[in-house]
Amino acid sequence: MVTISVIKADIGGWVGHSGVHTDLLEAVREALEEGRQRGVILDFYVAYCGDDVNLIMTHAKGVESPEVHELAWQAFQKATAVAKALKLYGAGQDLLVDAFSGTVRGLGPGVAEMAFEERKSEPIIVFMADKTSPGAWNLPLYRMFADPFNTAGLVIAPSLHQGFRFEIHDIMESKRILLDAPEESYDILALIGAPERYNIKAVYSRSTGEIAAVSSTERLAHVAGRYVGKDDPVLIVRAQSQFPAVGELLEPFTFPHLVPGWMRGSHTGPLMPVSLAQSRTARFDGPPRVVALGFQIANGKLIGPVDLFDNPAFDEARRMANQIADYMRRHGPFEPHRLPLEEMEYTTLPDILQRLASRMEDINGHRPARSEELEKMPEMEVE
Ligand code: F6R
Ligand code: MG
Ligand code: MG
Repeated sequence: MVTISVIKADIGGWVGHSGVHTDLLEAVREALEEGRQRGVILDFYVAYCGDDVNLIMTHAKGVESPEVHELAWQAFQKATAVAKALKLYGAGQDLLVDAFSGTVRGLGPGVAEMAFEERKSEPIIVFMADKTSPGAWNLPLYRMFADPFNTAGLVIAPSLHQGFRFEIHDIMESKRILLDAPEESYDILALIGAPERYNIKAVYSRSTGEIAAVSSTERLAHVAGRYVGKDDPVLIVRAQSQFPAVGELLEPFTFPHLVPGWMRGSHTGPLMPVSLAQSRTARFDGPPRVVALGFQIANGKLIGPVDLFDNPAFDEARRMANQIADYMRRHGPFEPHRLPLEEMEYTTLPDILQRLASRMEDINGHRPARSEELEKMPEMEVE
């Protein structure tokens, strides 16, 4: 069995919340190389997306390994020290506690992990997004594994024809449900169409029972009880043979769908597919973006990455995302560009509502205020 663990955190931005400083990547690489030499992990690749550092690691210790999680935690701690020395923005922001307690889950970083028997050839894609939250994967995951207009293999490949099983998490109630596509497609859509509450955690092949995809579903704000940035999710997907082809996994991202996040984690915007080099956010701290790194796994080694969106085939999606960004931005502080009130709960909006609360009057039975009742405005000075 080989395990792939992708553990990510924002441990300081350069500049602001836009990107990652190379010294952080270096610090993390050193820490992981030391872990590799000690035999904790087999191989690793240090990636980034916007202001997030993504540790992509292979090992033989299974999911939720305390040793692997501790290595990731220490790597982030070391890089945080570098971020603090450089006074990078929000140094250590996603490391919400001081003490490590056997798992990084619930401590701030995002985690996606899967373990499986390595196939004769094992292509995988690691998707990483910045300035959005885990629900952003719902639409593309549905397209990949349940939509025959996206994935031709569902119709014409016997190995995919039985369909896939979706594990959906209700992140508000901490519950989960398993639903099968295609029979229960409408039930799946009824839930995942509300991505702020229901997230697809994993997908399994129904012909072999094997894991096909796993996402990170941590909700930082829920962990911290206040707004501490969006969760900037990751997703691991296996490709080819009994799973969708690489091109079928990339296809959903030709449509830059609307996701929550962007500026101050409080706006709806298009998810733009970009290369690693272009993952740095810019306009209005965005728009939200996604990077896709492809690897072949060979005896636990990561052969790659191949930067899959670094391709003219995604130019149109980027162009469309820019047009959508223009359109959405013109709404300024109005919904639906700004997120609905329930989603603004963890921002500073409640403080503003609190400040206005004492001035809220009952309107039942009231007539509109007459001008003499209004507080007298200061006289305007006219030259
Ligand atoms: C969104 C994000 C940024 C910040 C914004 C304000 O996830 O990280 O858009 O929210 O730059 O940041 P502060 O409040 O740190 O100045
Ligand atoms: Mg940040
Ligand atoms: Mg981020």
